Amino acid sequence: MMKNKSLISISDYTKEEYFRILEVAAEFEKNPNQKLLDNYVVASLFFEPSTRTRLSFETAIQRLGGRVIGFSEATNTSQAKGESFNDTIMTISKYADLIVMRHPIEGSARYASEISRVPIINAGDGSNQHPTQCLLDLYSIYKTQGTLENLKLCLVGDLKYGRTVHSLLMAMSEFNPTFNFISPASLRMPQEYKDYLDSKGIKYNEYEELEPNIKDADIVYVTRVQRERFSDLLEYEKVKNVYVLKNKMLEGTKDNMRVLHPLPRVNEIDTDVDSNPKAYYFEQAENGVYTRMAIIALILGLK
Ligand code: CP
Repeated sequence: MMKNKSLISISDYTKEEYFRILEVAAEFEKNPNQKLLDNYVVASLFFEPSTRTRLSFETAIQRLGGRVIGFSEATNTSQAKGESFNDTIMTISKYADLIVMRHPIEGSARYASEISRVPIINAGDGSNQHPTQCLLDLYSIYKTQGTLENLKLCLVGDLKYGRTVHSLLMAMSEFNPTFNFISPASLRMPQEYKDYLDSKGIKYNEYEELEPNIKDADIVYVTRVQRERFSDLLEYEKVKNVYVLKNKMLEGTKDNMRVLHPLPRVNEIDTDVDSNPKAYYFEQAENGVYTRMAIIALILGLK
């Protein structure tokens, strides 16, 4: 199972393991202060900016009674003096029992897991994968829909560079979904993910218009255009405001539909949506604490 294993891609886990995490996350939601991590040290290494992932991991560790070491930017580490990534990870893996790491380079988490003597949790590697976000998304979908099976999911925005939608697509593919991909032409879902769906017989549609294509959705999952992944900022300027979800557009959508967003939001969801009961993104961020408590406890073999 998960014990002592790194979590690099959502495909590292089975469907049964997703459900085990959801079950333990629900236990932590009911009782969030369980001192299971007494005498444990967790390293939190963020080579790229973060609010929710870093702080919800650190909240999870504190609530479990563990201690955190780490950094929120690498400029304060000896990498600024020329130390290699290899030596940084090798050293920290001798201090901590577990490493949570975000890095801008795709594949960096997998590489770190080959160096480290303790498990690595990938907190986002470039535009590749964000598996713990995916697990908190599954928890949020399960909580709001009562099931993960046979749902219609609209994935909106930057489907090319958005790592959260890549992880979510792979995980939800275990549950017979239908996907509507809504993006500008330049930010379409990469072919490799569409091939993945084809290989599993999963249905998907691609659209450029937002409003008419969310009406029969169970989940509308909105994403930010990932400015930091564009090599040409003029290209970013062309698409940065392409979708703005407004409260009025939610008229006629299913009663139980929920709007999710991994956050941070720039302007792709108007603040007039925030007070609509269908808006779920801040609860989703809170769910990150319970889900990450579950992931840590299961990897360390404490549940
Ligand atoms: N969802 C997410 O990864 O948010 P942060 O970048 O703030 O961690």
